[in-house]
Amino acid sequence: MAEHHHSSFIKTPQQLLTVVLLAFVVPIIGIVLTVQLVLSRPRVDPAALFPEAVSARIQPIGRVEFGAATDALRTGEQITKEVCAGCHQAGIANAPKLGDKAAWAGRLKLGTNGLLQSVIKGKGMMAARAGTKLSDQELARAVVFMANQAGGNLKEPAAKPAVAEKKK
Ligand code: HEC
Repeated sequence: MAEHHHSSFIKTPQQLLTVVLLAFVVPIIGIVLTVQLVLSRPRVDPAALFPEAVSARIQPIGRVEFGAATDALRTGEQITKEVCAGCHQAGIANAPKLGDKAAWAGRLKLGTNGLLQSVIKGKGMMAARAGTKLSDQELARAVVFMANQAGGNLKEPAAKPAVAEKKK
């Protein structure tokens, strides 16, 4: 006589209740966690792609803040390294690379003012004012520094009276 050997690990009504509850609760927890995962996926904030935001992220830790205390303008070299190099170092979006004489030769003919106008108005993939809030004077310094690094011989336009530079 074949005895039906019942070998369930559920032996008591309490255990049955526990199993039934878990069978409900576990999938629900799974669904909740999945939904949270999907909703909390990191998204790209478009503002994070602006050149100033990018250069703020990639700049070295412990940068010395010029100008904050003294209100002195940053030099062309500082601005170039802190802001413009974001694109011009690697030649992003076909930006003429820093120190690349061939890439700059034709552009140098525009002179300080011509080049400055390109930066102020924006050119190609470079936004107006290179996407910054820098003053004309600071942009000019950076333009001259970049151009001269690439074989140019431009002169910085004379500095305007300090008062005119205060509005930043
Ligand atoms: C978002 C990237 C980006 C940033 C940041 C950027 N540039 Fe540019 N720049 C470009 C590109 C791209 C070009 C080439 C434009 C073209 O000729 O189509 C360019 C061209 C130039 C030119 C040549 C303009 C001409 O008429 O040939 C100058 C000068 C220049 N940039 C200066 C600067 C200065 C100064 C800064 C920083 C204040 C700066 N750029 C920041 C992308 C950038």
